Amino acid sequence: MSKRRIFSGARPTGRQHIGNYLGALQNWVRLQDEYDCVYCIVDIHALTSMEDTSQLQKNIYEMMLDWLAVGLDPQKSILFVQSHVPEVMELHTLLSMVTPLSWLLRVPTFKEKIKLQPQNVNYGLVGYPVLQTADIAIYKAEVVPVGEDQLPHLELAREIVRRFNSLYGNTFPEPEAKLTKYPLVLGLDGKDKMSKQAGNDIELALSAEETKEKIMTAYTDPARRYRSDPGHPEVCNVYKLLGYFDTSKTGGVAEKCRKAEIGCVDCKMLLAEAINKTLKPIRERRAEFEVDPKNISDILNNGAERARVIAQKTLNEVKKNMRLI
Ligand code: TRP
Ligand code: SF4
Repeated sequence: MSKRRIFSGARPTGRQHIGNYLGALQNWVRLQDEYDCVYCIVDIHALTSMEDTSQLQKNIYEMMLDWLAVGLDPQKSILFVQSHVPEVMELHTLLSMVTPLSWLLRVPTFKEKIKLQPQNVNYGLVGYPVLQTADIAIYKAEVVPVGEDQLPHLELAREIVRRFNSLYGNTFPEPEAKLTKYPLVLGLDGKDKMSKQAGNDIELALSAEETKEKIMTAYTDPARRYRSDPGHPEVCNVYKLLGYFDTSKTGGVAEKCRKAEIGCVDCKMLLAEAINKTLKPIRERRAEFEVDPKNISDILNNGAERARVIAQKTLNEVKKNMRLI
């Protein structure tokens, strides 16, 4: 029996951080053995919120380096850049005709973007979830690993696909969201979701020393103003991060924190050690791939070629079903 297909994508934000790793990449790597996986750097989606494209190529390159470093494997999965398979934009246009505007105007991410970039509420932004649906549908993916924030997009994708199927005959499977194990990773401020924009992230590509320095700046339990103040690990993001990287330490730390027997600096040292231990092989692999940048473009070209075969086949079927050919 053939494996079920997975599709997932991420915007080209450049170097990946441990939030990307825990929230998505680690999961994507694991899924490679069980599914037929297609992973995409969605550069066209990025354009909906980006006018200055001067960093785009560099960000794609850095991101792919990290993807390979964490263990996404071009022998197992299709790894490619969205715009290298332009068929998806054609499908986007066709799907836009079966998508009521009212569905798009009530998408929460769209409403947020209007607030975030009032000077650039472009046409592409409204259609963002339609393009995302095209991404998934053109590969006939059945399963889409995403974070919680993407659930409204997935629900919309299902509705668009259903509408298309009922109008033009069964063409696409209804994609189902697969929630990742760590849906929300907070940043060093212990407040907002870890992100490059918020400046509260820890990049995978940092050195061990740089990682330690960053972690030393992390916010902990605000009730611990002095070493002698008892702490509350349950409200502390350093503690939470430690749990992601080394569960063997968390029990002891929690107890000692509550009794003020361990200081936050010691605790952060433990976290830095745990993170550096996990990231060591990833950093080594990154350095290997970095030696030959042409390697990255070869991998992406090969990925696009393989993706394109599937995309063209689906698009042809779509056009037949719509009586365009
Ligand atoms: N919208 C997703 C995000 O911001 C990225 C994305 C684009 C995506 N196309 C996709 C995710 C298809 C899953 C499937 O993270
Ligand atoms: Fe957080 Fe550790 Fe400090 Fe407790 S000791 S507040 S768990 S960093």
